[in-house]
Amino acid sequence: MAQSIPKTTKTWNVIGQEGIESLKLSEQPIPELGDGEVLVKIQGASLNFRDLMVSEGTFPWDAKDGVVPGSDGAGTVIAIGKRVSRFKPGDKVITVLTPPLIAGSFKEQFLKFGLGASVDGTLRSVGAFDEHGLVAMPKGLSFTEAATLSCAGLTAWNALFGCSGRQVRAGDWVLTQGTGGVSIFAIQFAKAVGARVIATTSSSSKAKLLEKLGADHIINYRETPDWGAEAKKLTGGVGVDHVIEVAGPTTMNQSVVSLRLDGTITVVGSVASSGDVPQMPTLLDCWMSLFTSRGIWIGTRLQMEDMCRAIEANVKKLRPVIDSKVFKLEQTKEAYEYLASGKHQGKVCIEIA
Ligand SMILES: NC(=O)c1ccc[n+]([C@@H]2O[C@H](COP(=O)([O-])OP(=O)(O)OC[C@H]3O[C@@H](n4cnc5c(N)ncnc54)[C@H](OP(=O)(O)O)[C@@H]3O)[C@@H](O)[C@H]2O)c1
Repeated sequence: MAQSIPKTTKTWNVIGQEGIESLKLSEQPIPELGDGEVLVKIQGASLNFRDLMVSEGTFPWDAKDGVVPGSDGAGTVIAIGKRVSRFKPGDKVITVLTPPLIAGSFKEQFLKFGLGASVDGTLRSVGAFDEHGLVAMPKGLSFTEAATLSCAGLTAWNALFGCSGRQVRAGDWVLTQGTGGVSIFAIQFAKAVGARVIATTSSSSKAKLLEKLGADHIINYRETPDWGAEAKKLTGGVGVDHVIEVAGPTTMNQSVVSLRLDGTITVVGSVASSGDVPQMPTLLDCWMSLFTSRGIWIGTRLQMEDMCRAIEANVKKLRPVIDSKVFKLEQTKEAYEYLASGKHQGKVCIEIA
């Protein structure tokens, strides 16, 4: 049955840079649909660390005042523009964080197209998106589960499989940090291809989740501050093949210690960048300790389609982990607070009626 097309959307905007206080909710008219646009009834969204940064004005790349926040969304197509060929009404879709990055290398101009930062995002009930900025939603997932794939899922996929010649393979050792969105996806994908995982966390209750996901070894990074050496010991003194570095300045030295010769460190984020920041490894260390360091920005649409295919074929193993607390669109401020508190396990999600 054809969905009726609403005339207004309930939407959050980031007005100012006061953090959570900058989030404003209103009802707004839906503008006329562009020829290449798809109108989506958004039914699930999830939050990322970058959403906090956008609201605080600390996001280091392009962001516009008044933006609709949120990069992650999943929902149902309710109308299409005249020239849209990839989707039809009724299709279930997920948003792509950087629509122009379909394949190949990242280009500087793509920074201007980050969903929820410089382009209006997903924290609204209905939104128009460029048809190239959407992918088909994997069957077997809920809308909230599917929404988590736009940023954290794709980033983990790219970190593990996006570097030609350095993809994670069966038998490799992968080190992940903490129980945030990117790290949990990285554990799931690494285990699915037969790699071995050493995961760190700050809490014994969160360690239970890591165990459930199949982590081979778990290190509490608070109790074991030299966890890099501990991880290396666990590999028989050889070192890990891959580190997925999400914490940043305060963890990089230990990450380098954990690596084997000719290992790979994928630098994803800096979730632990406050407090005392030690001297970080330099590029010279890449030579001295013989490792390859790679910085990444989410991933391409083609990688996202590959990831969705893998998830659809292995839904039981690769179901996204979402926190037991799920928020409503109207509770977005509480959801931001919960994310900022660090109490979450897996993705913080928002259900949109
Ligand atoms: N480059 C990209 O394309 C890209 C894409 C997505 C995210 N990111 C960045 O990646 C980072 C992680 O994102 P996320 O969405 O996964 O964050 P998140 O869900 O907010 O994860 C936060 C987790 O980080 C862990 N953590 C905090 N300090 C730590 C430390 N010192 N050592 C190890 N783990 C620590 C904590 O785990 P425990 O509570 O278990 O200790 C915490 O739960 C952020 O900086 C984000 O901006 C970058």
